[in-house]
Amino acid sequence: MSLLEIKGLEKSFANIPILKGIDLTVERGEVVSIIGSSGSGKTTLLRCINFLEQADKGKIFMDQQLIFDAENELYKNADERRKSQLLFGLVFQSFNLFPQYNVLENVMLASKLLAKSKPDYKTNKKEILKEIESTARSLIDRVGLSDKLLNYPCELSGGQQQRVAIARALALNPEVLCFDEPTSALDPELTGEVLSVIKDLAKENITMIIVTHEMRFARDVSSRVIFMDDGIIAEEGTPESLFSEPKTERLKTFLGASFYE
Ligand SMILES: Nc1ncnc2c1ncn2[C@@H]1O[C@H](COP(=O)(O)OP(=O)(O)OP(=O)(O)O)[C@@H](O)[C@H]1O
Ligand SMILES: [Mg+2]
Repeated sequence: MSLLEIKGLEKSFANIPILKGIDLTVERGEVVSIIGSSGSGKTTLLRCINFLEQADKGKIFMDQQLIFDAENELYKNADERRKSQLLFGLVFQSFNLFPQYNVLENVMLASKLLAKSKPDYKTNKKEILKEIESTARSLIDRVGLSDKLLNYPCELSGGQQQRVAIARALALNPEVLCFDEPTSALDPELTGEVLSVIKDLAKENITMIIVTHEMRFARDVSSRVIFMDDGIIAEEGTPESLFSEPKTERLKTFLGASFYE
């Protein structure tokens, strides 16, 4: 059974259709890369999946549970949306760390806020916070930044900041980790360290959806590649099939152009 199932997702902005019926399933442990030209709707799709944007049509299932239905008001309710948002981690192009907090605090923040609504928070506060800190420390270790625990974002390189953002996204133990061009704001020499963290996560069977312009990375790390074109999934397949035998002219042109990027 698929972990994530997206059916007939549509989204328009100011009556201009941007997503024109997206069907996508993701299996547990799968790494799906999304490629496509600028403006094809990749970020919009990711934002709809993460409930940062509300799709106009379609349904989303997680582990066979309906978590979004554009036709049903219940799923538009803010509380429902927040609950569903917790199923996803999201790493943006531009890190978005809190500048006033150090690395450890950045990674702990969401878990601390969430813990406050636990019924046993007041009585077990000390243990709960200790647990949150220990999880955060091990995640920071996982992205290779144990020596930067107490540094502030402005004291880190772009690559290090992005690795903190990845640790932060993992802190709430999401079902699916989504990336929107995680390396495109980085200098080329810092790209490798972020891609290598993502590769390690893939080996640990973390389910990921990665919007990327790094064709070589998409080829190396993905189990499946999706080519978006003008609001639809125009082609999808294994990296081998998609990159070596593109079927549509649009994908051939796109791959030809990105080869020279
Ligand atoms: N909030 C919004 N309001 C109006 N139009 C929007 C909004 N968000 C996206 N769009 C439009 O939707 C289209 C798709 O945008 P989107 O950001 O999803 O593309 P993309 O594939 O991620 O492109 P890129 O590779 O440049 O990041 C664009 O034409 C964009 O202008
Ligand atoms: Mg985008």
